[in-house]
Amino acid sequence: MNKLLILIPALFAFACQTKNSDDLKEAAKKYEDVHSFADPSKAIVKHLDLDIKVDFDTKLISGKASWTIENPAKGDEIIFDSRNLKISKVTLGEEEKETTFTLGDVTEFLGQALTVKIEAATSKVNIYYSNSADAAAVQWLNPQQTAGKKYPFMFTQSQAILARTWIPCQDSPGIRFTYNAKVSVPKELLALMSAENPQEKNADGVYTFKQPNAIPSYLMALAVGDMSFKAVDNRTGVYAEPATLVKAAYELADMGKMTTAAEKIYGPYKWGRYDVLVLPPSFPFGGMENPMLTFATPTIIAGDRSLVSLIAHELAHSWSGNLVTNANWNDFWLNEGFTTYFERRIVEDVYGKDEAKMQELLGYQGLQDLVKEMGATNADTKLKANYEGRDPDEGVSDIAYEKGYSFIRTIEDAVGREKFDAFLRGYFDSHAFNSVTTEEFLAYLEKNLLKGDKALQDKININSWVYQPGLPTNSPAVGSDRFKSLDSLISQWQKSGDISVLNKKLATNEALYLISHLPADVTIKQMADLDRTFKFTASGNSEIQAAWYTLSVRMKYKPAYSNIETFLTEVGRRKFLMPIYKEMVKTSEGKVWAKKIYAKARPNYHSVAYNSIDEVLK
Ligand code: BES
Ligand code: ZN
Repeated sequence: MNKLLILIPALFAFACQTKNSDDLKEAAKKYEDVHSFADPSKAIVKHLDLDIKVDFDTKLISGKASWTIENPAKGDEIIFDSRNLKISKVTLGEEEKETTFTLGDVTEFLGQALTVKIEAATSKVNIYYSNSADAAAVQWLNPQQTAGKKYPFMFTQSQAILARTWIPCQDSPGIRFTYNAKVSVPKELLALMSAENPQEKNADGVYTFKQPNAIPSYLMALAVGDMSFKAVDNRTGVYAEPATLVKAAYELADMGKMTTAAEKIYGPYKWGRYDVLVLPPSFPFGGMENPMLTFATPTIIAGDRSLVSLIAHELAHSWSGNLVTNANWNDFWLNEGFTTYFERRIVEDVYGKDEAKMQELLGYQGLQDLVKEMGATNADTKLKANYEGRDPDEGVSDIAYEKGYSFIRTIEDAVGREKFDAFLRGYFDSHAFNSVTTEEFLAYLEKNLLKGDKALQDKININSWVYQPGLPTNSPAVGSDRFKSLDSLISQWQKSGDISVLNKKLATNEALYLISHLPADVTIKQMADLDRTFKFTASGNSEIQAAWYTLSVRMKYKPAYSNIETFLTEVGRRKFLMPIYKEMVKTSEGKVWAKKIYAKARPNYHSVAYNSIDEVLK
């Protein structure tokens, strides 16, 4: 009798324990991430209180990261990611009892595991740290590298796995946390984060931030500089250096309309405000969807609002990416494919079908070119990628964006837009603030949309899209009437040799189409005719510049050379730099030229850009 009484609670406890550890295994499986040392089956972060100082003299970010954690397995350690961080002390709890920690071996790209000894009941881990002056996420600009030329500037770029170079964190997109931050900066500068933001400077240079929604670490972001704010409407606005602000706000005047259009399609915007920070030109990407505050390149300021679909893209990430996140970087297409689709839906709503169709066609042609270049059997052309042992940054290509887009469109075409929209809305709602693997998405798709319909499944052919290389044979039809009329003008010009047949005002997309559809043996005379007619060399439109300059290098069109040098020195956007440098190194004299420019330009680039270009020029 006695024995039995003892046994029952013991058995009960055992049953609970096994269930619990099954749950944990389930969670761990979901979060399995080859690009993070964190082991969520042990202990996992839930909230961050960050207290840091930004020092422009030493180029250091230092302070304390206090992590609220959960430790359901009651284990005795928690693992963080770190890369080039100096950890001075780690304490536990509000009482800050000092504990021990180890830093593991240094691994390329990944950095080091930071393993902290904890107790079963530990709910807070305080890490005192500083980063290193060459932290890969951070770019420090001297006043000369800003528009105002008066104050220094700094910004971070955390995606994909660079957050760990400025904050010790569990740096996996499958792990989410809320955060509060206190950031001390020089008094004359403003600090902004991926959070609720100040709209003006204060007297003491100490700013506090709050991000009440759980986000993954790659969305941690900070910028410090001489920045001002201009409202677009009551929930959207623009930050930029004062010298850029008026132009930036003019260019982005449609942000409010875009947000409303997006909500009409996939439901309420869940993040409060939506603002854009237009950075100095060294920003290595077009845009980065930091929650509540997209970071953007100033190269979208063309003066005629023709490049603002990039903002539609970053805004779209507020659903696809920030609300429903790829669980790891091998599922990156879930973020970018859906976002490219949603971007074009927003563009269609705000700017019309013609515009969306032109962008779609240019995108698809870019994809075809890329697949040709990579080879149709190349495993990196699969949507479900495998970047184990490599930097996930290598996966940033049109495969995720445009093959992902084409796959989503294939589903839309098969079921019809109305059904597909309802499905997607349900998907975003049911997975809000969660991370998702490719397989989870496909299972949800089957359960809620395809529902065993064999004809539909065959029509879409998921396997060939997701798990096979190259481009499936059922790629959706793309076409643009605007481009068709341009085609006929181009061929008239080719036949007659008379450039005046082409003499009409070209929209940005038409110019891009023209530049990418010139015959392979276009002559210098034809290029000069085009240049005289359309002023491509002197264009202030960065997309046109990048396309024209790449062609100019290929065809050795000398009148563009000095503008090319200026462009490569001033602009740090990798997507523009790479094709130009790649074209240059194809000839030996081009390579000498490239190296000469690069020697001058490299100090202006962010590590994301110069690491890629170093490879091209080595
Ligand atoms: N999230 C990406 C940028 C990114 C991807 C940074 C992977 C680091 C790793 C952002 O949303 C993006 O896609 N930007 C594009 C713009 C777009 C319109 C295609 C860019 O920067 O060119
Ligand atoms: Zn994106």
